[in-house]
Amino acid sequence: MSISALQCLKINTCLPLCLVLYFINVCQAWLPDTNTKLINNVNKLSSVSFKGNNSFLDHFTVLYQDQETILLGGRNRVYNLSVFDFVERKHFGIQWPSSEAHGQLCNLKGKNEDECQNYIRMLFHTGPGRILICGTNSFKPLCRNYFYKNGNYMMEKESEGIGVCPYDPDHNSTAIYSNGHLFSATVADFSGGDPLIYREPLRTELSDLKHLNAPNFVSSVTHGEYIYFFFRETAVEFMNCGKIIYSRVARVCKHDKGGPHQSRNKWTTFTKARLNCSVPGEYPFYFDEIQSTSGIIEGQYGDASSKIIYGALTTPDNAIGGSAICVFRMDDIEDVFKGPFKHQEGINANWLPVPDSKVPEPRPGECAIDSRILPDANVNFIKTHPLMERAVPSTYGKPILIRVSLNYRFTAIAVDPQVRTVNDKTYDVIYIGTDDGKVLKVVNVPSENSAKAVVVSENEVFARGVPVKQLTVVSGYGKVVAVSKGETKLITLNHCKSIATCNECLELRDPHCAWDQFKNLCVSVDAVTSFRYLVQDVKRGNGSKCKMQSTDKALEKEIDDNSIVDNAIDEESKSSAEDLLLRIDNESADCNDVNADYRTGCSTIRKSEFSSGTLYGGIISAAMVGLLAGFVGGYCVSRKFHTHYPSAPFIEQHNHLDRLNGNQNSFLARPTKTVNLDVLNVSSDTLPPKKDNLGSLKNLNITNEGTLQKIKKTYI
Ligand SMILES: *[C@@H]1O[C@H](CO)[C@@H](O)[C@H](O)[C@H]1NC(C)=O
Ligand SMILES: *[C@@H]1O[C@H](CO)[C@@H](O)[C@H](O)[C@H]1NC(C)=O
Ligand SMILES: *[C@@H]1O[C@H](CO)[C@@H](O)[C@H](O)[C@H]1NC(C)=O
Ligand SMILES: *[C@@H]1O[C@H](CO)[C@@H](O)[C@H](O)[C@H]1NC(C)=O
Repeated sequence: MSISALQCLKINTCLPLCLVLYFINVCQAWLPDTNTKLINNVNKLSSVSFKGNNSFLDHFTVLYQDQETILLGGRNRVYNLSVFDFVERKHFGIQWPSSEAHGQLCNLKGKNEDECQNYIRMLFHTGPGRILICGTNSFKPLCRNYFYKNGNYMMEKESEGIGVCPYDPDHNSTAIYSNGHLFSATVADFSGGDPLIYREPLRTELSDLKHLNAPNFVSSVTHGEYIYFFFRETAVEFMNCGKIIYSRVARVCKHDKGGPHQSRNKWTTFTKARLNCSVPGEYPFYFDEIQSTSGIIEGQYGDASSKIIYGALTTPDNAIGGSAICVFRMDDIEDVFKGPFKHQEGINANWLPVPDSKVPEPRPGECAIDSRILPDANVNFIKTHPLMERAVPSTYGKPILIRVSLNYRFTAIAVDPQVRTVNDKTYDVIYIGTDDGKVLKVVNVPSENSAKAVVVSENEVFARGVPVKQLTVVSGYGKVVAVSKGETKLITLNHCKSIATCNECLELRDPHCAWDQFKNLCVSVDAVTSFRYLVQDVKRGNGSKCKMQSTDKALEKEIDDNSIVDNAIDEESKSSAEDLLLRIDNESADCNDVNADYRTGCSTIRKSEFSSGTLYGGIISAAMVGLLAGFVGGYCVSRKFHTHYPSAPFIEQHNHLDRLNGNQNSFLARPTKTVNLDVLNVSSDTLPPKKDNLGSLKNLNITNEGTLQKIKKTYI
């Protein structure tokens, strides 16, 4: 016992440092973030701010958004803002403070003035003119139904919100309204120790770490017959010392009716799987902590159309800051739920796949016509085997974007799906929030069997150190709502106007911007009515289309004459541009890498794009990391000669150490920080699974020796 504790101690001190080494080995090319095209500080941004009542923090959350209105949940009220100018419609907001009795009770329980308020966390349209609102109500969650009458919302009925709405505005909860039911993932007790996924009257097992183990819920979506929840939690299947957090996707059947007998109030369909967002290699590097996801996006990627979800995942808090964007296909998620279950024989036994012969019929975890008459064997199986054996692979087997930074991590993601370009292609524009007050604008550029995210701009939206908690996209024009604890901003991340030349306009690769050959301006595509004379190159970001068109005598003449031509010219010059681009492509055939931009010869990035600030930043951080790595390397290697370590916890491995160690504190209340309450209001959608596409997934079994040798080698 004491020996294993000692080992844990050593590994915990060494791990963060070894991580640095690992990064240096696998990803020299990640270090400087110099492939960003534009860097905008607060003053350069066009934005409107909303702060609610300036005298306190509102713990804002976007509850609902449509073409005209944005409803913000705040302290004791719902703010109704216009999407266009972000002005509050004071007349329409809903006021709902806690009753005096509830406030006093909250104070008695030891909470302070700011905690004993009603923070509105969710709002759903339950029918025409009807809404359901839930709030923390001074640590005594409460819901209210309102209906619309004579230009105002009137309260209809009040109901308990336990299991639906969190107690604490900082808790990371999520909820979704589908087919007349509210599905929520939150905590059901004052101290935050009873996490659950709930739809009246069904819930996950109480105090069963196999079901939920100190989860942070991130989002929920409806897909087919199921509701899917994304979250991160302490991994029960991780058998080394210490604890590790994994990202998960769980699902429940929408029309689960509960089990027979004593499982009447329990899900019969709750299953979950790990999400695998990692850099492949002999020892994959994992981004294990999911922070945010987009909704389900249906789009054209390469040659195929598929339904996908974007996720922002990070390394643990105590490691070097690494963030990644991974794409998960709904088909791949469904496949994992059709695959083998994971099982542990005894408390110290390895987790192994359950052989098919041991899985009862009908298959547990799937939607049943009436779950109340399922055989006991089936219900008991799913109760004891909620975890799937395989992890959901990320599309392309690697992240589409990786950032390593000592200064920030990704916290929020929102996607403007399938933005149409001038030549009728579509690209997803992704907005990413960081815990350092920034919002990145990124374009996902898929090709045959890989995808790469191009960072168009990096924008300082909030003050340094203020995390972006939530992002939502306001249709078109590059408009985004960015939410922090005490301020909400409507920002315009459309930078076309600030671009002076055709080359720069094309190299920006923003689907929202195109070069107008007639006006000689970089214009916003959303604002024009005709695509004539517009050139764009989102796929390559190559300015050659500019030259080609300006030397194209015919076109010049047309422009000079200002005569009316049809699109034939555009088409023609486009195809010659494609030819040229093909050639360029062949020359740099093996640069399909995540970081191709950074390597010489892979892409044409001009020096002027690096501001001197970023260059210095790059040099300094590289130097610092180098120093750190040297120290660590020495440390690790010297340690090796004393003891054999078990391998570092970021590598999948089965080991026989007492896993209870790591799990014991999960019932204690956790310290609270930022909120990430994600609320969705979606109607059901049905689409059968289309493709069977699953990469080969193996569980790595690595010996202890292996890792250390690898690290040693790296250092030398
Ligand atoms: C802010 O809240 C306080 C206390 O609830 C209230 O007295 C004050 O009028 C509010 N101010 C504004 C600008 O709404
Ligand atoms: C928000 O304001 C608009 C007025 O433009 C109104 O139509 C809508 O019902 C309001 N919503 C709420 C929840 O108050
Ligand atoms: C995750 O994906 C990587 C790369 O595709 C693969 O090498 C690794 O084995 C996978 N890990 C798990 C746990 O499935
Ligand atoms: C919620 O998530 C944020 C961001 O990931 C994290 O910093 C915070 O600690 C979480 N809140 C709780 C109560 O765990």
